[in-house]
Amino acid sequence: MAFFIKKTDKTESEIISKLPTHIAIIMDGNGRWAKKRGLPRTAGHKVGAEAFRSIANYAKSIGLKYLTVYAFSTENWKRSEEEVDAIMGLLERFLREAIRDMDKNQVRFCFFGDLTRLSPALQAEAAEAVERSKQYEGVQVNLCLNYGGRAEILRAARIFAARCATGEAKPADLNEAAFSELLWSAGVPDPDLVIRPSGEERISNFLLWQSAYSEYYFTDTLWPDFGPRDLDLAIEAYNKRSRRFGGVK
Ligand code: IPE
Ligand code: IPE
Ligand code: MG
Repeated sequence: MAFFIKKTDKTESEIISKLPTHIAIIMDGNGRWAKKRGLPRTAGHKVGAEAFRSIANYAKSIGLKYLTVYAFSTENWKRSEEEVDAIMGLLERFLREAIRDMDKNQVRFCFFGDLTRLSPALQAEAAEAVERSKQYEGVQVNLCLNYGGRAEILRAARIFAARCATGEAKPADLNEAAFSELLWSAGVPDPDLVIRPSGEERISNFLLWQSAYSEYYFTDTLWPDFGPRDLDLAIEAYNKRSRRFGGVK
């Protein structure tokens, strides 16, 4: 909570008003975290899931409105069956526990991605998490599962093309706002800040449309080690940026 209580010449409301509305995180570095310790990659995913739980609760406590996390990409199916199964098992467990602890944590869940490729059990849990948490008004956590920015844009294009084919829409009707409403992220404002831990400096197919004007923050910290203090540091760095959106300040 350093972010709220730090001594500064600005008033508290000025600081709070600079809390981003929407933070997105590429939860990367689990495998390297495990390797450094001589553990199997899956051990890194397990600790990574804990890091996510603690960041989601912290995000709620500081009053963040939206937290979007990249948990499994459309490209991650290329990994060994053993690793994919382990990640899916952890996701199932994570969702079961999130549903169990829902009243305590009061986090609203949403999912971005093509969930139809996931196991029926995982799909059922995701649907239950969305349904049971829609009443909460604090933070909304968007969990990206089998998510790819390109897949998301293609899907939106297909939906719109199908509407044109039936005569329900015309090509000239399409604008940026209307297109955004066809994405998995419909209704969610674009991320203000995109964080990538683990030292990689690329977006790996994450929120391609939505991050057009996002601020990026890269850190060498590996995701399993990423804690509230790291989120504070990212927010502090964000506060020093000058967002111009193509204009002049
Ligand atoms: C991120 O950690 C988790 C997923 C992509 C599912 P990685 O597994 O990519 O970890 P590194 O990049 O190999 O360290
Ligand atoms: C991005 O990380 C996907 C997730 C964190 C879920 P990757 O580890 O898959 O990305 P690359 O392969 O390093 O680009
Ligand atoms: Mg990685």
